[in-house]
Amino acid sequence: MNMINDSLRKAREFENTYLPNVNRDELPEFHVTGGIGWINDPNGFSVYKNEYHLFFQYHPYDVTWGPMHWGHVKTSDFIHWERLPAAIAPDEEYDKDGCFSGSAIELPDGRHLLMYTGVRNERRKDGQVETFQTQCIAVGDGVDYEKYEHNPVITGEDVPAGADVHDFRDPKIRFEDGKYYAVVGNRPADGSGSIIQYESEDGFEWNFTSVVAMCHNQFGKMWECPDLFRLDDKDVLLTSVQEMTAMGEEFHPGNTTICLIGCYDREKHHLVREAVQAVDYGTDFYAPQTLLSLDGRRVMIAWMQSWESSGSKKAGLPFLGQMILPRELSIRDGRLIQNPVRELEQLRGTKISYRNVMICGETTLQGIDGRFIDMTVNIRPASEDSVFRYFKLNVAKDGEISTMIRYKPENNTIRVDRTYSGFPHDIVNARTVPVRPNQGVIKLRLIMDRYSLELFVNDGEQAASFVLYTPVSASAISFEAEGTAMLDVEKYDLQL
Ligand code: FRU
Repeated sequence: MNMINDSLRKAREFENTYLPNVNRDELPEFHVTGGIGWINDPNGFSVYKNEYHLFFQYHPYDVTWGPMHWGHVKTSDFIHWERLPAAIAPDEEYDKDGCFSGSAIELPDGRHLLMYTGVRNERRKDGQVETFQTQCIAVGDGVDYEKYEHNPVITGEDVPAGADVHDFRDPKIRFEDGKYYAVVGNRPADGSGSIIQYESEDGFEWNFTSVVAMCHNQFGKMWECPDLFRLDDKDVLLTSVQEMTAMGEEFHPGNTTICLIGCYDREKHHLVREAVQAVDYGTDFYAPQTLLSLDGRRVMIAWMQSWESSGSKKAGLPFLGQMILPRELSIRDGRLIQNPVRELEQLRGTKISYRNVMICGETTLQGIDGRFIDMTVNIRPASEDSVFRYFKLNVAKDGEISTMIRYKPENNTIRVDRTYSGFPHDIVNARTVPVRPNQGVIKLRLIMDRYSLELFVNDGEQAASFVLYTPVSASAISFEAEGTAMLDVEKYDLQL
């Protein structure tokens, strides 16, 4: 195929020049980054020719957001990723200001179809810049992609009354009941968010079907990056929300991701909502996207970064932005359950475990340390009639430097705090995770890579992701209780 235009050629040449010089020890071991430059949302997470492809919002030239390209990697196990050349670049009139987020699907004829938002900015006579977002297509063979000659395929003329042509983005395509559907984020007349949907017989010609869900100013404003799928016996809509105002411990302010669980009416093409919850309670999680794996699991990936802190970089790193470790999703008791993909277990090396360790005050345990780890800690009161006041885990620790995970049975919360992690910027450093009341009994699983900590509570009832820039030499772990706690701990070193 021969569709490599100048912008894409330039991006690929830049990659060829700079990627080989990146020091592997400056990158995470098993989390996806761009290697160089900036990345944000995952895009086009899809199965193609029996492999999993992942694209991402990408600005190869700098560690700041810029004209959006799509970077590209693939894997067969969600752990070992192969880097492929940048897939698309902004180079047409309709996407000259960016190829924004979107998705991908394998066509019956063996081609890989990418659906993305083309952004075009126009300066008006009064000097203001007006932005237009349309949905576009590129088709390729898993490496090289050609933009469709009839782009854009969905424009401002195809939105329902009151919907917006400026905030209209992030199509997520799926194939269902013999047709293609795409959910797209939009801003309706009330100024908040909605998810609207289009259908197509062939993936190229699209018609509006319905409004799938509306925000009604209840959960933030603009809704972006939607994903709608069946999960166990429910239908789930994920969407990332701008300008959220905080609600209790469940929803933190700013950019956050929510999950609407309910029943999708297949005639009206509308989600009848039963519950809304946060997806991740950490500081760094946005714009998730899922696929159905070859063995039938719903696997989710997301950007592990927050927009709000993305200007506070660690000096000298060649990249900004990572993806979470992909998670397997399920529904339990009407809630979204998330656990690390089971393929992570391949990386497990040395195992150290302890059972029935009594903790009062602060203690370390021989062999329980490390920065590339998969560690599970089961905590419970030491006796039937006493519950400890709190239990604390200090990780990535070296003297004064550490990150704290504190469980308080009295108010059923976990507080994760990276204030003392050694990062020299005053970003949001602590979050509270509400957990199920269970009288001091809790299970915590921590996955740590060079620049991250992902926490899973009670087999996936809550997940919380944090970027950590603590030097890897800070590798001690301590356990601390006020009152007396009993614990079992199992730690594996992870090695790629
Ligand atoms: C979400 C988002 C998307 C948009 C992309 C631009 O993080 O704002 O809505 O397509 O990032 O990079």
